[in-house]
Amino acid sequence: MLVAGNWKMNLDLAAARQLTAGIVSTVGKPKNTHIAICPPFVDLDATYSILHGSGIKLGAQNMYHLDSGAYTGEVSAPMLRAVGCHYVILGHSERRELFGETNQSVSQKAIQAKTHKLVPIVCVGESLAQRDAGVHEGVVEEQVRQSLESLHVGESSELVVAYEPVWAIGTGRTASPEQVTQMHTHIRSILVELFGQKIGTGIDILYGGSVKPNNALELFSQPNVDGGLIGGASLNADDFASIVASADKAATIRF
Ligand code: PGA
Repeated sequence: MLVAGNWKMNLDLAAARQLTAGIVSTVGKPKNTHIAICPPFVDLDATYSILHGSGIKLGAQNMYHLDSGAYTGEVSAPMLRAVGCHYVILGHSERRELFGETNQSVSQKAIQAKTHKLVPIVCVGESLAQRDAGVHEGVVEEQVRQSLESLHVGESSELVVAYEPVWAIGTGRTASPEQVTQMHTHIRSILVELFGQKIGTGIDILYGGSVKPNNALELFSQPNVDGGLIGGASLNADDFASIVASADKAATIRF
């Protein structure tokens, strides 16, 4: 299991330090669950020094697909590694919708992340219109295939996929356990096809979209759900710790 907090464009340096310290002191040491937080770029260095030794990993929310150069405003994989990042979120639906991210750019970034030993958390998910039109499985399948098919994955721990239906993000509306199971099982079969049985079954598939303390256990108990990508609720240490505890409980029920 993996629970990753996506802070999005929230918290300045002082607030980021405070929340990180709060998370370190409340999450404890779950047995079967890895934990990550993904603060804004400018908070990464400071949060890393607070996380250091806690077992909680650091992640970034985006990166560019080249090492360095004249790319004003961008941040590279080596820079993220240098400030202690283990993960990088790629292709979040907000980046796809608002910043023109495509499956092709996500694919380039995922390859670059892997080259620099960052673990990409590749996000996929359909819009409400696509779900209502019944094309959600095809849309997500295309996102998974086009974002990942050029990637070489030597071990399942080198890649994470996050299924986040766009209509569930920040809306308070979660996908039902049946909808989540159906999509995660579909994604699992594509991962097995792309990377083989052993690696494909071991890759963590996270669910994201309005995961809260009161629904986390049910969502994480579904087959092929290996944890969550948490937005709003990751900004509160107690809520985040409760979600981590639910993941750990689901892990013991399932395995
Ligand atoms: P949410 O965001 O938990 O606030 O819905 C999830 C995400 O966008 O990763």
